[in-house]
Amino acid sequence: MTAVTIERVSRSFDSVHAVREVSLEIRDGEFFTLLGPSGCGKTTLLRMIAGFCELDAGTISFGGRRIDTLPPHRRNTGMVFQNYAIFPNFTVGGNVAYGLRARKMPATQIAQRVETALKLVHLDGYDARWPHQLSGGQLQRVAIARALVIEPEVLLLDEPLSNLDAQLRVEMRGEIRQLQQSLGITAIYVTHDQEEALAISDRIAVMRAGTLEQVGKPEAIYRDSATPFVAEFMGVTNLLSGNVTRREDAHVVIEVAGTEFHMEGSLSATGPAVAFCLRPEALRVIAPGDVVPAGWTSLEARLVRVEFLGALTRLETRIAEGATLRVALLDQPLDALSPGCVLTLAYDPRRTTPFKTS
Ligand SMILES: Nc1ncnc2c1ncn2[C@@H]1O[C@H](COP(=O)(O)OP(=O)(O)O)[C@@H](O)[C@H]1O
Ligand SMILES: [Mg+2]
Repeated sequence: MTAVTIERVSRSFDSVHAVREVSLEIRDGEFFTLLGPSGCGKTTLLRMIAGFCELDAGTISFGGRRIDTLPPHRRNTGMVFQNYAIFPNFTVGGNVAYGLRARKMPATQIAQRVETALKLVHLDGYDARWPHQLSGGQLQRVAIARALVIEPEVLLLDEPLSNLDAQLRVEMRGEIRQLQQSLGITAIYVTHDQEEALAISDRIAVMRAGTLEQVGKPEAIYRDSATPFVAEFMGVTNLLSGNVTRREDAHVVIEVAGTEFHMEGSLSATGPAVAFCLRPEALRVIAPGDVVPAGWTSLEARLVRVEFLGALTRLETRIAEGATLRVALLDQPLDALSPGCVLTLAYDPRRTTPFKTS
């Protein structure tokens, strides 16, 4: 088990600042995810930790020991790549044994370690198979076994599931998380899939254009997104802005496109302009005759579109001056709703998240 300390690490490629002055403390045994859109610097940062990419500036330490000056094979990391990087001319066993042979371990010990690693990824008995005989999911398991067999201090995974189909991705992410927890190993996981990150991480760092936008637990990243970029990246949402019209202690009324929104909580804004996030699932449709829950606030909106997604139904609505308000309903029967009708929507004002204004 090893804590990873990244201090003011930067790397450019010509004029592209792939990673700029990133600092992170990753805890012992933590499942830590680097999340962000394509091109934001996730792979570059991971490769710098592994030793496959040089730093322009900064330091990286494992358990207080500086490692960014060491060659990759002396850093004791195991890496799993997006494209598996399985050697086609080696058997499964040969692939998994590769790192141990390179370390000149005795053959009997190698055989034992390979067997254990294949068991960990549920591929016992597969050591004599050839890569072309395996499915995508099985190849990725071989890649994970190959990374774990050297008993690394830190496991690095770069979008390991992106070549698998949706159902298998969900299954495999659970397995990777379980494996990491049972081994108690520190893992740094790269993905651009926010649901995947939320599902398996202890903490997430959201990256944008080479910098960290927010670091925190999944719930905090989703519920208390620090910036509009994070709020939007973490899932379909409503980003609203308007002017404060009334204020009473922690209760703030904001006018957005001719409609009053209520916010409950601390507001750091000094001027009248406020930007905030209201998640679609925080909004409910109040049927005629039903009451608005105590402490909630309601507003009227015109229904524009209904999108039935199975577990979830998404509504697009429009408020007074034409601004869009998205609503997500879980298992709320909608028989009477058709585009054009006026809905009463309600939400708990504590579910609004204000952004810091600069
Ligand atoms: N070897 C390289 N040569 C030139 N540009 C690179 C290289 N590696 C990465 N980049 C650039 O650095 C930025 C970050 O890339 P990358 O770390 O791969 O992002 P991500 O993994 O988040 O998609 C991108 O603009 C990419 O084009
Ligand atoms: Mg990448």
